[in-house]
Amino acid sequence: MSTMVRWFIKSALAYLGAGFLLGGILLTYKALAHRAVPAQWVTIHVHLLLVGFMVQLVMGVGYWMFPRVRDHWFGEQWAAASWALLNLGLLLRFVSEPYLFGPWSGAAAPVTAVSALLQVAAGLLFVAGMWPRIKGVLHQQAASHKDGGG
Ligand code: HEM
Repeated sequence: MSTMVRWFIKSALAYLGAGFLLGGILLTYKALAHRAVPAQWVTIHVHLLLVGFMVQLVMGVGYWMFPRVRDHWFGEQWAAASWALLNLGLLLRFVSEPYLFGPWSGAAAPVTAVSALLQVAAGLLFVAGMWPRIKGVLHQQAASHKDGGG
């Protein structure tokens, strides 16, 4: 398992813990305060779990398991770039999005916009890097014969 596979998967597990923790806090608040959970915190909870945990886990496992293409540009450095863009984007989102419509909206808005750009860049980079690794069995066998494999 390469360094970046471990970083993707461990980060995903950290988001799972954070998402469950926030979910537990929100559910306790709802039960004890008898008040609706503020929408912006539900958004954070959902993105912690769906993007931070689930998507990131799939990215890590995909980068680990999909067959590698010889001499392809998407190696550890580009995987690290994708990981960094995703996680920086998510963290900036979580510290800014809850404050978009309050007194700190002037500071929060540009940070949320930057976080959107970072997350999109992470996703597109990963898609571009993984795309050539999705091949049919016959194609892989042909490439393996060409490389001198069995
Ligand atoms: C992988 C696990 C989970 C996923 C994918 C998930 C996903 C979601 C989604 C999509 C919503 C929005 C629902 C809506 O607005 O209609 C939500 C809301 C919520 N979740 Fe989770 N959740 C997970 C785990 C948990 C856990 C473990 C807890 C508590 C211990 C929790 C507590 C809550 C609470 C309190 C809300 C807000 C409900 C409300 O608006 O009143 N979630 N979750």
